[in-house]
Amino acid sequence: MKALVYHGPGQKAWEEVPDPRIRKPTDVIVKIETTTICGTDLHILKGDVPAVERGRILGHEGVGRVVEAGSAVTGLVTGDRVIISCISACGHCDYCKQGVFAHCLGEEGAAGIGWILGHLIDGTQAELVRVPYAETSVYKVPDGVTPQAGTLLSDILPTGHEIGVQYGAVKPGDVVAVVGAGPVGLAAITTAGLYGPSRIIAVDVDRNRVEQAKRFGATDGVVSTDAGWKDQVLALTDGLGVDVAIEAVGIPETFAMVLDIVRPAGHVANVGVHGKGVDLPLDKLWISNITITTGLVNTNTTGTLLKLVAQQKLQVDPFVSHEFDLDDIEKAYDTFSRAAETKALKVMLNARATTGAPPEATA
Ligand SMILES: NC(=O)c1ccc[n+]([C@@H]2O[C@H](COP(=O)([O-])OP(=O)(O)OC[C@H]3O[C@@H](n4cnc5c(N)ncnc54)[C@H](O)[C@@H]3O)[C@@H](O)[C@H]2O)c1
Ligand SMILES: [Zn+2]
Ligand SMILES: [Zn+2]
Repeated sequence: MKALVYHGPGQKAWEEVPDPRIRKPTDVIVKIETTTICGTDLHILKGDVPAVERGRILGHEGVGRVVEAGSAVTGLVTGDRVIISCISACGHCDYCKQGVFAHCLGEEGAAGIGWILGHLIDGTQAELVRVPYAETSVYKVPDGVTPQAGTLLSDILPTGHEIGVQYGAVKPGDVVAVVGAGPVGLAAITTAGLYGPSRIIAVDVDRNRVEQAKRFGATDGVVSTDAGWKDQVLALTDGLGVDVAIEAVGIPETFAMVLDIVRPAGHVANVGVHGKGVDLPLDKLWISNITITTGLVNTNTTGTLLKLVAQQKLQVDPFVSHEFDLDDIEKAYDTFSRAAETKALKVMLNARATTGAPPEATA
Protein backbone atom coordinates (compact mmCIF):
# COMPACT_ATOMS: atom_id res chain seq x y z
CA MET A 1 0.00 0.00 0.00
CA LYS A 2 0.94 3.68 -0.09
CA ALA A 3 1.44 5.70 3.10
CA LEU A 4 2.88 9.00 4.31
CA VAL A 5 6.09 8.04 6.09
CA TYR A 6 8.02 10.29 8.49
CA HIS A 7 11.76 10.22 7.80
CA GLY A 8 12.96 12.64 10.47
CA PRO A 9 12.48 16.39 10.99
CA GLY A 10 11.36 18.11 7.77
CA GLN A 11 11.27 14.82 5.84
CA LYS A 12 8.29 12.79 4.73
CA ALA A 13 7.29 10.80 1.66
CA TRP A 14 4.18 9.19 0.17
CA GLU A 15 5.65 5.79 -0.61
CA GLU A 16 5.08 2.06 -0.95
CA VAL A 17 5.11 0.16 2.39
CA PRO A 18 3.95 -3.31 3.46
CA ASP A 19 0.22 -3.67 4.18
CA PRO A 20 -0.59 -3.74 7.91
CA ARG A 21 -1.61 -7.08 9.38
CA ILE A 22 -3.77 -8.06 12.36
CA ARG A 23 -1.39 -8.53 15.29
CA LYS A 24 -3.78 -8.94 18.22
CA PRO A 25 -7.25 -10.49 18.32
CA THR A 26 -8.70 -7.06 19.27
CA ASP A 27 -7.33 -5.34 16.12
CA VAL A 28 -9.13 -4.44 12.93
CA ILE A 29 -7.71 -3.32 9.61
CA VAL A 30 -9.46 -0.28 8.12
CA LYS A 31 -9.30 0.81 4.50
CA ILE A 32 -9.13 4.61 4.67
CA GLU A 33 -11.79 6.59 2.81
CA THR A 34 -10.95 10.04 4.22
CA THR A 35 -8.14 11.29 6.42
CA THR A 36 -6.77 14.72 7.31
CA ILE A 37 -3.76 16.57 8.67
CA CYS A 38 -3.58 17.97 12.20
CA GLY A 39 -1.50 20.87 13.55
CA THR A 40 0.15 18.17 15.66
CA ASP A 41 1.45 16.44 12.49
CA LEU A 42 3.22 19.71 11.66
CA HIS A 43 4.71 19.72 15.19
CA ILE A 44 6.00 16.17 14.53
CA LEU A 45 7.58 17.27 11.23
CA LYS A 46 9.31 20.11 13.03
CA GLY A 47 10.85 17.51 15.33
CA ASP A 48 8.83 18.71 18.36
CA VAL A 49 7.58 15.22 19.23
CA PRO A 50 10.75 13.11 19.58
CA ALA A 51 8.79 9.95 20.50
CA VAL A 52 7.88 9.64 16.81
CA GLU A 53 10.48 7.38 15.21
CA ARG A 54 11.73 7.54 11.64
CA GLY A 55 9.73 5.20 9.44
CA ARG A 56 6.47 5.93 11.28
CA ILE A 57 3.30 6.41 9.20
CA LEU A 58 1.70 9.68 10.36
CA GLY A 59 -1.97 10.56 10.97
CA HIS A 60 -4.46 10.08 13.80
CA GLU A 61 -7.75 11.05 12.14
CA GLY A 62 -9.94 9.38 9.56
CA VAL A 63 -12.91 7.34 8.44
CA GLY A 64 -12.83 4.07 6.53
CA ARG A 65 -14.28 0.61 6.08
CA VAL A 66 -13.33 -2.39 8.19
CA VAL A 67 -11.72 -4.91 5.82
CA GLU A 68 -10.52 -7.45 8.39
CA ALA A 69 -11.33 -8.03 12.06
CA GLY A 70 -9.37 -9.92 14.73
CA SER A 71 -10.86 -13.04 16.31
CA ALA A 72 -11.93 -11.26 19.53
CA VAL A 73 -13.82 -8.51 17.70
CA THR A 74 -17.54 -9.19 17.91
CA GLY A 75 -19.19 -5.80 17.46
CA LEU A 76 -17.68 -4.87 14.09
CA VAL A 77 -17.87 -6.65 10.76
CA THR A 78 -16.21 -6.31 7.41
CA GLY A 79 -17.76 -3.42 5.52
CA ASP A 80 -18.62 -1.30 8.60
CA ARG A 81 -17.78 2.36 8.06
CA VAL A 82 -16.04 3.69 11.16
CA ILE A 83 -14.56 6.84 12.64
CA ILE A 84 -11.08 6.12 13.94
CA SER A 85 -10.63 7.99 17.20
CA CYS A 86 -7.28 9.74 17.73
CA ILE A 87 -7.23 8.08 21.16
CA SER A 88 -6.97 4.28 21.39
CA ALA A 89 -8.58 2.88 24.52
CA CYS A 90 -8.21 -0.67 25.83
CA GLY A 91 -11.45 -0.29 27.80
CA HIS A 92 -10.08 -2.23 30.80
CA CYS A 93 -7.32 -0.27 32.55
CA ASP A 94 -7.91 2.04 35.51
CA TYR A 95 -7.89 5.14 33.35
CA CYS A 96 -10.31 3.68 30.82
CA LYS A 97 -12.66 2.74 33.66
CA GLN A 98 -12.62 6.40 34.75
CA GLY A 99 -13.27 7.57 31.18
CA VAL A 100 -9.81 9.16 31.03
CA PHE A 101 -9.01 7.36 27.78
CA ALA A 102 -6.25 9.88 27.03
CA HIS A 103 -4.11 8.06 29.58
CA CYS A 104 -5.07 4.48 28.68
CA LEU A 105 -2.39 2.11 29.95
CA GLY A 106 -2.96 -0.46 27.18
CA GLU A 107 0.15 -2.33 26.09
CA GLU A 108 0.45 -0.60 22.73
CA GLY A 109 1.44 2.74 24.23
CA ALA A 110 4.49 1.83 26.21
CA ALA A 111 4.41 5.37 27.59
CA GLY A 112 0.88 4.78 28.87
CA ILE A 113 -0.91 7.20 26.61
CA GLY A 114 -4.02 6.82 24.51
CA TRP A 115 -2.71 8.84 21.58
CA ILE A 116 -0.64 6.20 19.81
CA LEU A 117 -1.77 6.31 16.14
CA GLY A 118 0.71 8.22 14.02
CA HIS A 119 2.79 8.67 17.19
CA LEU A 120 3.88 5.36 18.72
CA ILE A 121 2.35 3.07 16.07
CA ASP A 122 1.57 3.56 12.37
CA GLY A 123 -1.27 5.96 11.67
CA THR A 124 -4.10 6.84 9.31
CA GLN A 125 -2.40 8.77 6.47
CA ALA A 126 -2.29 5.56 4.47
CA GLU A 127 -4.45 3.34 2.32
CA LEU A 128 -4.84 0.86 5.21
CA VAL A 129 -4.36 1.15 8.96
CA ARG A 130 -4.27 -1.35 11.82
CA VAL A 131 -6.51 -0.07 14.62
CA PRO A 132 -5.84 -1.63 18.03
CA TYR A 133 -8.57 -2.09 20.68
CA ALA A 134 -10.98 -1.56 17.83
CA GLU A 135 -14.23 -2.10 19.65
CA THR A 136 -13.46 0.60 22.22
CA SER A 137 -11.69 2.96 19.82
CA VAL A 138 -13.89 3.35 16.74
CA TYR A 139 -17.44 4.63 16.16
CA LYS A 140 -19.75 3.33 13.44
CA VAL A 141 -20.75 6.13 11.09
CA PRO A 142 -24.54 6.50 10.89
CA ASP A 143 -26.30 7.08 7.57
CA GLY A 144 -26.28 10.71 6.56
CA VAL A 145 -22.87 11.46 8.10
CA THR A 146 -20.23 11.84 5.40
CA PRO A 147 -16.70 10.46 5.80
CA GLN A 148 -15.47 14.09 5.86
CA ALA A 149 -17.81 15.03 8.72
CA GLY A 150 -16.88 11.81 10.53
CA THR A 151 -13.19 12.66 10.21
CA LEU A 152 -13.80 15.87 12.20
CA LEU A 153 -14.90 13.65 15.09
CA SER A 154 -11.58 11.81 15.25
CA ASP A 155 -9.89 14.69 17.05
CA ILE A 156 -10.81 18.37 16.68
CA LEU A 157 -14.48 18.33 17.74
CA PRO A 158 -13.98 16.26 20.90
CA THR A 159 -10.80 18.24 21.69
CA GLY A 160 -12.48 21.65 21.51
CA HIS A 161 -15.53 20.33 23.36
CA GLU A 162 -13.88 18.34 26.15
CA ILE A 163 -10.67 20.22 26.88
CA GLY A 164 -12.00 23.68 25.99
CA VAL A 165 -15.72 23.85 26.72
CA GLN A 166 -16.30 21.12 29.31
CA TYR A 167 -13.10 21.66 31.28
CA GLY A 168 -13.83 25.39 31.04
CA ALA A 169 -17.27 24.65 32.58
CA VAL A 170 -19.18 26.83 30.11
CA LYS A 171 -22.74 27.43 31.35
CA PRO A 172 -25.80 29.38 30.23
CA GLY A 173 -25.24 33.13 30.09
CA ASP A 174 -21.44 32.93 30.25
CA VAL A 175 -19.16 35.17 28.22
CA VAL A 176 -16.61 32.86 26.61
CA ALA A 177 -13.42 33.96 24.85
CA VAL A 178 -11.45 31.58 22.64
CA VAL A 179 -7.88 32.67 21.93
CA GLY A 180 -6.74 31.00 18.71
CA ALA A 181 -9.35 30.44 15.99
CA GLY A 182 -7.69 27.55 14.18
CA PRO A 183 -9.64 24.30 13.68
CA VAL A 184 -9.41 23.41 17.39
CA GLY A 185 -10.44 26.88 18.60
CA LEU A 186 -13.29 26.87 16.09
CA ALA A 187 -14.37 23.47 17.40
CA ALA A 188 -14.48 25.00 20.90
CA ILE A 189 -16.52 27.92 19.54
CA THR A 190 -19.01 25.62 17.79
CA THR A 191 -19.49 23.27 20.74
CA ALA A 192 -19.63 26.11 23.31
CA GLY A 193 -22.86 27.07 21.56
CA LEU A 194 -24.43 23.87 22.92
CA TYR A 195 -24.32 25.33 26.45
CA GLY A 196 -26.10 28.64 25.91
CA PRO A 197 -23.38 31.23 26.55
CA SER A 198 -24.44 34.87 26.07
CA ARG A 199 -21.36 35.71 24.01
CA ILE A 200 -18.53 33.82 22.32
CA ILE A 201 -15.59 36.04 21.45
CA ALA A 202 -13.01 34.80 18.93
CA VAL A 203 -9.53 36.26 19.42
CA ASP A 204 -6.77 35.69 16.86
CA VAL A 205 -3.85 37.51 15.21
CA ASP A 206 -5.28 36.58 11.83
CA ARG A 207 -8.12 38.95 10.88
CA ASN A 208 -9.45 36.42 8.37
CA ARG A 209 -9.77 33.74 11.07
CA VAL A 210 -11.56 36.19 13.38
CA GLU A 211 -14.07 36.84 10.60
CA GLN A 212 -14.40 33.13 9.74
CA ALA A 213 -15.15 32.36 13.40
CA LYS A 214 -18.56 34.03 13.04
CA ARG A 215 -19.59 31.19 10.69
CA PHE A 216 -18.92 28.81 13.59
CA GLY A 217 -21.02 30.66 16.17
CA ALA A 218 -18.72 33.41 17.48
CA THR A 219 -20.84 36.46 18.33
CA ASP A 220 -17.86 38.83 18.44
CA GLY A 221 -14.27 38.96 17.24
CA VAL A 222 -11.14 40.75 18.41
CA VAL A 223 -7.89 40.95 16.45
CA SER A 224 -5.16 40.50 19.04
CA THR A 225 -2.61 42.68 17.26
CA ASP A 226 -4.94 45.69 17.56
CA ALA A 227 -3.89 48.13 20.26
CA GLY A 228 -6.37 47.84 23.07
CA TRP A 229 -7.42 44.27 22.21
CA LYS A 230 -7.84 43.57 25.93
CA ASP A 231 -10.11 46.59 26.45
CA GLN A 232 -12.13 45.43 23.45
CA VAL A 233 -12.65 42.05 25.12
CA LEU A 234 -13.47 43.57 28.51
CA ALA A 235 -15.97 45.91 26.86
CA LEU A 236 -17.89 42.82 25.75
CA THR A 237 -18.24 41.75 29.40
CA ASP A 238 -19.52 43.71 32.39
CA GLY A 239 -16.00 45.07 32.61
CA LEU A 240 -14.70 42.39 34.97
CA GLY A 241 -13.53 39.86 32.38
CA VAL A 242 -14.80 36.74 30.69
CA ASP A 243 -16.27 33.80 32.58
CA VAL A 244 -14.33 31.27 30.51
CA ALA A 245 -11.10 31.87 28.57
CA ILE A 246 -10.01 29.02 26.30
CA GLU A 247 -6.39 28.90 25.06
CA ALA A 248 -6.12 27.12 21.69
CA VAL A 249 -2.69 28.16 20.40
CA GLY A 250 0.04 26.78 22.68
CA ILE A 251 2.54 29.63 23.20
CA PRO A 252 3.45 31.64 26.34
CA GLU A 253 2.01 34.84 24.86
CA THR A 254 -1.49 33.42 24.43
CA PHE A 255 -1.47 31.74 27.84
CA ALA A 256 -0.68 35.18 29.31
CA MET A 257 -3.59 36.58 27.27
CA VAL A 258 -6.15 34.20 28.75
CA LEU A 259 -4.95 35.00 32.28
CA ASP A 260 -5.34 38.68 31.42
CA ILE A 261 -8.97 38.50 30.37
CA VAL A 262 -10.50 35.98 32.80
CA ARG A 263 -12.64 37.43 35.59
CA PRO A 264 -12.13 36.53 39.25
CA ALA A 265 -13.64 33.07 39.91
CA GLY A 266 -13.61 32.36 36.16
CA HIS A 267 -12.14 29.40 34.27
CA VAL A 268 -9.05 29.16 32.07
CA ALA A 269 -9.00 26.03 29.90
CA ASN A 270 -5.69 25.35 28.19
CA VAL A 271 -6.01 23.30 25.01
CA GLY A 272 -2.83 24.31 23.17
CA VAL A 273 0.16 21.96 23.03
CA HIS A 274 3.06 23.92 24.55
CA GLY A 275 6.65 23.46 23.44
CA LYS A 276 8.05 25.49 26.33
CA GLY A 277 7.15 26.53 29.86
CA VAL A 278 4.93 29.51 30.62
CA ASP A 279 4.90 31.99 33.51
CA LEU A 280 2.22 31.47 36.11
CA PRO A 281 2.19 34.70 38.19
CA LEU A 282 0.79 33.17 41.36
CA ASP A 283 1.72 36.31 43.31
CA LYS A 284 -1.15 38.00 41.46
CA LEU A 285 -3.37 35.02 40.79
CA TRP A 286 -3.58 33.41 44.24
CA ILE A 287 -6.32 35.83 45.24
CA SER A 288 -8.36 35.50 42.05
CA ASN A 289 -10.22 32.20 42.69
CA ILE A 290 -9.74 31.13 39.09
CA THR A 291 -9.63 27.51 37.93
CA ILE A 292 -7.00 26.49 35.37
CA THR A 293 -7.37 23.19 33.54
CA THR A 294 -5.16 21.28 31.08
CA GLY A 295 -5.59 18.07 29.16
CA LEU A 296 -5.21 15.70 26.27
CA VAL A 297 -8.54 14.91 24.63
CA ASN A 298 -10.27 11.82 26.08
CA THR A 299 -12.75 11.34 23.22
CA ASN A 300 -15.33 10.37 25.85
CA THR A 301 -17.87 12.71 24.20
CA THR A 302 -17.30 11.56 20.61
CA GLY A 303 -20.49 9.48 20.59
CA THR A 304 -22.58 12.43 21.81
CA LEU A 305 -21.06 14.80 19.27
CA LEU A 306 -21.60 12.24 16.51
CA LYS A 307 -25.31 12.11 17.40
CA LEU A 308 -25.53 15.91 17.19
CA VAL A 309 -23.72 15.94 13.83
CA ALA A 310 -26.08 13.23 12.50
CA GLN A 311 -29.08 15.31 13.65
CA GLN A 312 -27.50 18.42 12.09
CA LYS A 313 -27.56 20.17 15.45
CA LEU A 314 -23.83 20.71 14.98
CA GLN A 315 -22.93 22.11 11.56
CA VAL A 316 -19.48 20.87 10.66
CA ASP A 317 -19.21 21.34 6.88
CA PRO A 318 -17.57 24.79 7.19
CA PHE A 319 -14.51 23.16 8.79
CA VAL A 320 -13.56 21.61 5.44
CA SER A 321 -11.64 24.23 3.45
CA HIS A 322 -9.85 22.00 0.91
CA GLU A 323 -10.18 18.48 -0.51
CA PHE A 324 -7.45 16.46 -2.22
CA ASP A 325 -6.97 12.95 -3.50
CA LEU A 326 -5.19 10.85 -0.90
CA ASP A 327 -2.37 10.40 -3.45
CA ASP A 328 -1.85 14.18 -3.38
CA ILE A 329 -1.15 14.25 0.35
CA GLU A 330 2.19 16.03 -0.09
CA LYS A 331 0.36 18.91 -1.84
CA ALA A 332 -2.19 18.90 0.97
CA TYR A 333 0.61 19.23 3.57
CA ASP A 334 1.94 22.22 1.67
CA THR A 335 -1.50 23.90 1.63
CA PHE A 336 -2.16 23.15 5.29
CA SER A 337 1.25 24.35 6.45
CA ARG A 338 0.67 27.76 4.78
CA ALA A 339 -2.77 28.32 6.35
CA ALA A 340 -2.42 32.09 6.73
CA GLU A 341 -1.93 32.38 2.94
CA THR A 342 -4.16 29.54 1.76
CA LYS A 343 -6.93 30.11 4.36
CA ALA A 344 -6.83 26.39 5.08
CA LEU A 345 -8.85 25.00 7.96
CA LYS A 346 -9.25 21.23 7.64
CA VAL A 347 -7.76 19.71 4.52
CA MET A 348 -9.56 16.47 3.61
CA LEU A 349 -7.79 13.65 1.79
CA ASN A 350 -10.17 11.30 0.01
CA ALA A 351 -9.13 7.88 -1.26
CA ARG A 352 -10.23 7.42 -4.85
CA ALA A 353 -13.36 5.28 -5.01
CA THR A 354 -12.28 1.71 -5.57
CA THR A 355 -13.99 -0.33 -8.26
CA GLY A 356 -17.31 -1.88 -7.40
CA ALA A 357 -19.43 -1.67 -4.27
CA PRO A 358 -18.05 -1.54 -0.72
CA PRO A 359 -17.25 -4.97 0.71
CA GLU A 360 -20.30 -7.02 1.70
CA ALA A 361 -21.06 -7.13 5.40
CA THR A 362 -20.10 -10.52 6.79
CA ALA A 363 -20.71 -11.82 10.26
N1 LIG B 1 -5.02 19.21 24.13
C1 LIG B 1 -5.29 18.42 23.12
O1 LIG B 1 -5.75 17.28 23.31
C2 LIG B 1 -5.06 18.88 21.72
C3 LIG B 1 -5.55 18.12 20.64
C4 LIG B 1 -5.37 18.61 19.33
C5 LIG B 1 -4.68 19.82 19.14
N2 LIG B 1 -4.19 20.52 20.22
C6 LIG B 1 -3.47 21.79 20.07
O2 LIG B 1 -4.42 22.84 19.94
C7 LIG B 1 -3.74 23.97 19.37
C8 LIG B 1 -4.59 24.55 18.24
O3 LIG B 1 -4.66 23.61 17.17
P1 LIG B 1 -5.06 24.07 15.71
O4 LIG B 1 -4.97 22.87 14.84
O5 LIG B 1 -6.32 24.84 15.75
O6 LIG B 1 -3.81 25.04 15.39
P2 LIG B 1 -3.63 26.21 14.33
O7 LIG B 1 -2.17 26.46 14.27
O8 LIG B 1 -4.37 25.93 13.08
O9 LIG B 1 -4.39 27.45 15.02
C9 LIG B 1 -3.79 28.30 15.93
C10 LIG B 1 -4.39 29.68 15.77
O10 LIG B 1 -3.74 30.54 16.71
C11 LIG B 1 -3.52 31.79 16.09
N3 LIG B 1 -2.44 32.48 16.80
C12 LIG B 1 -1.10 32.27 16.69
N4 LIG B 1 -0.44 33.12 17.48
C13 LIG B 1 -1.36 33.88 18.10
C14 LIG B 1 -1.29 34.95 19.02
N5 LIG B 1 -0.14 35.41 19.46
N6 LIG B 1 -2.44 35.52 19.44
C15 LIG B 1 -3.65 35.05 19.00
N7 LIG B 1 -3.78 34.04 18.11
C16 LIG B 1 -2.65 33.47 17.66
C17 LIG B 1 -3.21 31.46 14.64
O11 LIG B 1 -3.43 32.58 13.79
C18 LIG B 1 -4.19 30.30 14.38
O12 LIG B 1 -5.42 30.75 13.86
C19 LIG B 1 -2.37 23.47 18.91
O13 LIG B 1 -1.41 23.81 19.91
C20 LIG B 1 -2.57 21.96 18.87
O14 LIG B 1 -1.36 21.25 18.96
C21 LIG B 1 -4.39 20.07 21.49
ZN1 LIG C 1 -4.64 16.00 16.23
ZN1 LIG D 1 -7.12 1.53 28.88
